[in-house]
Amino acid sequence: MCGIVGCVLKHKKAAPILLDCISKLEYRGYDSIGIATEDSKINIKKDKGKIIEVNTSLDLADMEGQSGIAHVRWATHGDPNKINSHPHTDENKTVAVVHNGIIENYLEIKEQLISEGHNFKSDTDTEVIPHLLEKFIKEGLDLEGAMKKTISIIQGAYAIAAICKNEPNKVIATRKDSPLIVGVGKDEYFVASDSPAILKYAKDIIYPERGEIVILEMNGVTIKDINGNIIEKEIETIDWTPEMAEKEGYDYFMLKEINEQDIAIRNTLTEKNNIKKIIDEVKCAINRIMFVACGTSYHASLTGKYLIESLAGIPTDVVLASEFKYSANTLNDKTLVIFISQSGETADTLKALDIANKTSKTLAIVNVAGSSATRRADYVIHTQAGPEIGVAATKTYVSQLTAIYLFAGLLSENDDLLTKLKKVPDYIKEMIKDPSNIITMSKKYKYADDFFYIGRGFSYPIALEGALKLKEITYVHGEGYAAGELKHGPLALIDEGIPVVVVLPPGENHKKTMSNLEEVKSRGADVISIGSMDDKPLIDKSDDIFLINSEIDDIIAPITYIVPLQLLSYYMAIERGCDPDKPKNLAKCVTVE
Ligand code: F6R
Repeated sequence: MCGIVGCVLKHKKAAPILLDCISKLEYRGYDSIGIATEDSKINIKKDKGKIIEVNTSLDLADMEGQSGIAHVRWATHGDPNKINSHPHTDENKTVAVVHNGIIENYLEIKEQLISEGHNFKSDTDTEVIPHLLEKFIKEGLDLEGAMKKTISIIQGAYAIAAICKNEPNKVIATRKDSPLIVGVGKDEYFVASDSPAILKYAKDIIYPERGEIVILEMNGVTIKDINGNIIEKEIETIDWTPEMAEKEGYDYFMLKEINEQDIAIRNTLTEKNNIKKIIDEVKCAINRIMFVACGTSYHASLTGKYLIESLAGIPTDVVLASEFKYSANTLNDKTLVIFISQSGETADTLKALDIANKTSKTLAIVNVAGSSATRRADYVIHTQAGPEIGVAATKTYVSQLTAIYLFAGLLSENDDLLTKLKKVPDYIKEMIKDPSNIITMSKKYKYADDFFYIGRGFSYPIALEGALKLKEITYVHGEGYAAGELKHGPLALIDEGIPVVVVLPPGENHKKTMSNLEEVKSRGADVISIGSMDDKPLIDKSDDIFLINSEIDDIIAPITYIVPLQLLSYYMAIERGCDPDKPKNLAKCVTVE
């Protein structure tokens, strides 16, 4: 939800670099963009629209000043329009501010400031911040002091960066419950919501904690605690390359990321020893597992439940992070609570993690190193997918599944599962080689209004994830059901020509799901199947089929059978003229509850 960047550069103009950095965060928000620089006055350019549209009309990179801030917006308070776009200022343009998060008490602060004579222009919660900063600067504080006082008043989640016309070449930033990293380059210093923004300029990263104040100046970075004491922070070097955050010849990041899934899995398999160590520490101390996650990460968790319960026999629940509080009082010190989040910054998940930390051992499975979840959980497994820019999770999903399969396989000492897992990258490579069949299907079904996805057992989460991918990037209604549940209600919706995607790998559920296929077929549905090359009965009954290596059984299907469904959604989005990387109303990292 929104991306922010700030920089101070010793030898360069800030605006072109801010534009380059913020363009790498467009996955976080793309309804407006704005940049502010300081050259003894505040220069601002901003407008509604994607970066490419706004830059064409405003020439964002053409501004003086060697320090500045930038923002991409995903609207929470106030429509996406020019006035509500960040950066926001006070009426005298003393300061400019960018903000990611929500100021929960902004209405009372706004009323108070209006009664003191401040004039507000926008409908945003953010605008109270520049007004507070200006008020405290007028009372005699510098920008740093004003920021400290401001964060003692505002409540909610925030990452903020600010510049002031009276304090040349300085950016002050802070965070609470929204992500912010500090990048230390050669004679150039950055803050950003996420590392892809600054990969090209800085590899040394500092992760500020809640309430710490970051000061970027020409000669370096200082980080202070809330009492003004300088803190020595650890510097971590990231191994992601700038190319990882580029499309590298693909039309969209989503397609690139689907094609990187074999590598993402191979890299995540290297977490095996780390996972073994965690299991050795917790195994004897737990009698229950609870997964907590949102969206696609929730679907990965559901697969985890099926694996752990069937292979290790440990009772395992899966809870949506936003609904977690209703289950929290059943936790105790014998529960291992596993949080799955590609970003490690999802507000609902972090809130649940803080609660679980009070009673239970916690483990976070996270893709973004240094993110909040990695710093708050007792144990961490890093999925090694590399940066994922497309809003729809693809390679991070299969990497999460890889970590879960490793966890379940090692926990249950099931070597057979681990052997099957090793073959998955090759299966995926084979599956993505030729998408022509999927492209034909996407042309055929592009006008459908409703899709149904069904699967049983391990294939049920595949059906849910396939349907989520469809709705988020094509805006076509897609619903995933446990195949056995159809006849308990949803079957009433099946009619002539309705596409039903049947996920049907070989395995113990095959016969039963075939009967469910017959049920929809006899009501006129168009059956699109994903199944084994050797499955003659399935081939005969399907209107369209994506055939998969017959070695892949139902237990390993969640991490492989999802691939054609990702591709089907992708090509349908293209057919329907949608941008799969930037679906409407969505953002990659949901830092509000
Ligand atoms: C869908 C998608 C979302 C995320 C969800 C949780 O493609 O990406 O459903 O899975 O917002 O995000 P993380 O995993 O970052 O906690």
